[in-house]
Amino acid sequence: MVLTAQTARPHKPTFSTHHLTSLPYTLCIMVKVLAILYRGGEAATQEPRLLGTVENQLGIREWLESQGHEFIVSDDKEGPDSVFQKNLVDAEVLITTPFHPGYLTADLIKKAKNLKICITAGVGSDHIDLNAANERGITVAEVSGSNVVSVAEHVVMSILLLVRNFVPAHEMIERGDWQVSDVARNAYDVEGKVVGTIGAGRIGFRVLQRLVPFNTKELLYFDYAPLPEHAAKEVKARRVEDLKEFVSQCDVVAVNCPLHEGTRGLVNAELLKHFKKGAWLVNTARGAICDKDAVAAAVKSGQLNGYAGDVWNVQPAPKDHPWRTMKNPLGGGNGMVPHYSGTTLDAQARYAAGTKSILENYFKSSPQEPQNIIVEGGKYATKAYGQR
Ligand code: NAI
Repeated sequence: MVLTAQTARPHKPTFSTHHLTSLPYTLCIMVKVLAILYRGGEAATQEPRLLGTVENQLGIREWLESQGHEFIVSDDKEGPDSVFQKNLVDAEVLITTPFHPGYLTADLIKKAKNLKICITAGVGSDHIDLNAANERGITVAEVSGSNVVSVAEHVVMSILLLVRNFVPAHEMIERGDWQVSDVARNAYDVEGKVVGTIGAGRIGFRVLQRLVPFNTKELLYFDYAPLPEHAAKEVKARRVEDLKEFVSQCDVVAVNCPLHEGTRGLVNAELLKHFKKGAWLVNTARGAICDKDAVAAAVKSGQLNGYAGDVWNVQPAPKDHPWRTMKNPLGGGNGMVPHYSGTTLDAQARYAAGTKSILENYFKSSPQEPQNIIVEGGKYATKAYGQR
């Protein structure tokens, strides 16, 4: 039991509440909540709907402090002297986001003696060592579904921009040039192509749904969990159970599965050999599912006509990351952007509200929405993080 302030206090620019001790007290349980978010800078000051930033703090500071909880927010996450590692030692709740991940390794979990629950503000909790969390009985929850439409739309956009050779065409216009044949020589229609998704969960299924009106030749999926019959019928998708066979049939492959032991490096040099020559690959799931160097080499050689996505094996991606600048032999085929597909303003409103709701349940000791739980009580609650 800890003492806490009676009233909400004004916003403090330091993002720390250590000064609580100087205020009048009443008895209640105070929880230390640590959040690692991305820095929004000027954009976040101008746009309060950028809720997932250090500046706007998921919109929960006042609410947390009115209940006397301590709330530490920072983007400083690397190394033993970071705000993340220093505050982790006694934090009870950790909020992280996949966009600027506070990597919670097994070693850090050992040091986080008081940690009870990790909340992912968004979807995808691979930045947390889930097996180590299980050993300690730490709950990991995410705001399932909060940004799945946002990502599915981005996937469809990325397929279109690769297949239609959009980026080089736009760059040509910015340069002041006009040579239609230079971009048309590598531009195609999505209609009549075979498009497949690795992972047909919330996002993968929504991608398939959105592709139906494009009159593809066929929609395929590879997932150890078959789609429910009605869902497969709705999108007329065919399941292919062998991954090499699957990729060898696709003109476009989209990766939509979580990162776990079974998917790390799944798309590697060996698998890329089985892709159709000149296929397109889109990955908005997690960077580490695709081998960085193998993908760069495949784009360079033309084995892949292009690669697009928003996720990187390390985030922020280093300046010299090959995915920033890789090009196919015709000078296009790169649709990479920073990790933002799942953090549209619409998505931020949803994952901020979902984070608050998980916290409310936690403080009240109420059960969490089952779909939000990744691991709990030493076990995986979801079937999406690998076959166990
Ligand atoms: P989900 O849990 O609804 O679906 C995941 C699907 O992947 C499940 O059907 C599961 O069976 C399948 N899967 C797991 N391992 C597989 C494997 N080895 N091979 C084939 N399929 C496999 O998850 P949801 O909501 O569709 O999200 C998927 C992932 O997308 C997240 O885990 C996250 O990594 C990523 N994501 C990226 C975002 C972004 O901003 N770029 C935002 C949201 C999610």
